Amino acid sequence: MTTATTTDVPALSLAGVTKRYGALTAVDDVTLEVAKGARHALIGPNGAGKSTLFNLVAGTLPVTSGQVRFAGTDVTRRSAAWRARRGLGKTFQHSSLFLSMNPLENVALAAQRVAGKGMSLLASSARERAGIDDVARQCVADVGLTDRSHIVTGALSHGERRQLEVAVALATRPRLLLLDEPAAGMSPAESNRFAELVQSLPEDLTVVIIEHDLDLVFRLADRVSVLHLGGLIADGPAEQVREDPAVQQAYLGEDSLEELFETAPSPGEAGSSNEEMAT
Ligand SMILES: Nc1ncnc2c1ncn2[C@@H]1O[C@H](COP(=O)(O)OP(=O)(O)OP(=O)(O)O)[C@@H](O)[C@H]1O
Ligand SMILES: [Mg+2]
Repeated sequence: MTTATTTDVPALSLAGVTKRYGALTAVDDVTLEVAKGARHALIGPNGAGKSTLFNLVAGTLPVTSGQVRFAGTDVTRRSAAWRARRGLGKTFQHSSLFLSMNPLENVALAAQRVAGKGMSLLASSARERAGIDDVARQCVADVGLTDRSHIVTGALSHGERRQLEVAVALATRPRLLLLDEPAAGMSPAESNRFAELVQSLPEDLTVVIIEHDLDLVFRLADRVSVLHLGGLIADGPAEQVREDPAVQQAYLGEDSLEELFETAPSPGEAGSSNEEMAT
């Protein structure tokens, strides 16, 4: 008799996940698995449903139907806070940093929130406070921002803020990290640094990344899922998805996907109207 070991359990498993807004189906019957430790990209044209799907996974939006399993546990009806405490970390397409605080304070707040201490920096004992500060320093160092840790966040460059958002997510000690367009609006140098950051994350941390910059996608991801009009139109090893005619059609009509990611700049951060609920 064979029994499944914990390494066989996918980090994330979606079955028939659907989100409807009236007549619009933003996410349409998505069934998908993300293996533990994977570097998995979620791509698709603007409005395809990528951010909505992330919100359904994180619990910041409720599903209309379907099931979300995180590390083998059905979390479909669990709150975002419950999922976050058990290791589901997420960055947002639109920044969620406190610009008047410094990077260390932003990261410490996230660490504290997950430790269940709410938003007050005064709520902890001196010992807990020191532990939280250690975590914050480590996470800021992990993303290469130690030299910038004491200036106000509002004075950081766009790329540095996006790195800081990863540090904020890391402070929640995630086992699964969802990154929503982390490199949007970054300069090529910042985007390179960001790629190195993702590559340096612990191997057992599962990362799912939404990204429009296909160069970055194929550099970072071993597997790629493609959403189009809310539905999954391709899912598999990166090289296979790159060659998929349906993917090329969804992105470009008659042109080739290869040409797009060799020549086109990142479209940047496109606006969308997600009603993200507070965690
Ligand atoms: N709160 C909402 N109410 C109604 N429709 C919504 C809401 N949020 C998103 N949508 C719609 O759902 C669809 C998917 O949006 P979503 O933001 O998930 O796309 P996306 O793939 O992340 O796009 P982008 O690449 O532009 O960020 C879009 O048609 C969007 O207009
Ligand atoms: Mg989006």
